[in-house]
Amino acid sequence: MKALVTGITGFAGSHLAEYLLRQNVEVYGTVRSGSRLDNIRGIRQDIRLAECELRDPVSVDRLVKALRPDLIFHLGAQSSVPASWSAPLETIQNNIAGQINLMEAVRRHGLDCKMQIACSSEAYGAIWPHEAPIKETNPLRPLSPYAVSKVTQEFLGGQYFRSCGLHIVATRAFNHIGPRQSEKFVASSFARQIARIEKGDMPPVLRVGNLDAKRDFTDVRDVVRAYWLALEYGEPGEIYNIASGTCRPIREILQLLLASSRAVIQVEQDPGLLRPADAETLVGDSSKFYRRTGWKPEIPLTQSLKDLLDFWRAQP
Ligand code: GDD
Repeated sequence: MKALVTGITGFAGSHLAEYLLRQNVEVYGTVRSGSRLDNIRGIRQDIRLAECELRDPVSVDRLVKALRPDLIFHLGAQSSVPASWSAPLETIQNNIAGQINLMEAVRRHGLDCKMQIACSSEAYGAIWPHEAPIKETNPLRPLSPYAVSKVTQEFLGGQYFRSCGLHIVATRAFNHIGPRQSEKFVASSFARQIARIEKGDMPPVLRVGNLDAKRDFTDVRDVVRAYWLALEYGEPGEIYNIASGTCRPIREILQLLLASSRAVIQVEQDPGLLRPADAETLVGDSSKFYRRTGWKPEIPLTQSLKDLLDFWRAQP
């Protein structure tokens, strides 16, 4: 069985590739010229990479036609919420064009393949307290251009399922963490700063944004297992939450990480890390996905944070 992973060089993409190899799936991934391959260094010999610009319909068509994958995991995207305010149009264009180009290629060449679209809890955006934990049926009130791009991806997936019969399953993953995550994201930013402070590479002042936000964290290795199960057992045309069901204030993530370090560290809020809008609380109900697949997260938060900190401590 052949799987194509877009965004294979990214955080979740690299963990997904490792998981697929363990399922004895042939793994192919898209890369762009100049993509950093650090995250897939350990599996470079076991996977095949194709240069492909997802925004370019010709490039995507050529790849899909030649490869004819059985499974497509579409993870490639501009994934940073703050970056989507600096570059709203680019975020929307990038995230939507990639998906349309993939679905068009699958449709045009009549592929009998299953496609997972990595969407996001950010789609829910502004949530009322009585709505938590959030079910898939909750109204969507996106708060950022990134969130709108993900809502659009879901809608496009639904449309291609209904009007073209494509087997598309959308996953709304809540926050995920673990080794190799970019320091653009909160837990990884904190862990990297702690590791650098421990090495004496920066002054002992850790910069943070909004510590009052509450998020639902799952280990990335549990999340990629969910992506696989979404295509194994998920119903085409459906959307599934991937969440732990527990939410923690960002302040608690910071405290857990700081407690793992012997360094004396001062915490300072950096106004530049505050967002124009930030969902107060995002906690998900993934019972719909559990009923369909039996998926439950297995890796405790403390383990994910330890592995993340160890990852940054091991960086040169
Ligand atoms: N990045 C960052 N850096 N966020 C901070 C910081 C900081 O120093 N301090 C506090 N935060 C808060 C943010 O304001 C937000 O409320 C929360 O921490 C999580 O921020 P991120 O880790 O940047 O993630 P995100 O929730 O914006 O988006 C991530 O999760 C989504 C849901 O899975 C990304 O991975 C998205 O691509 C993904 O869709």
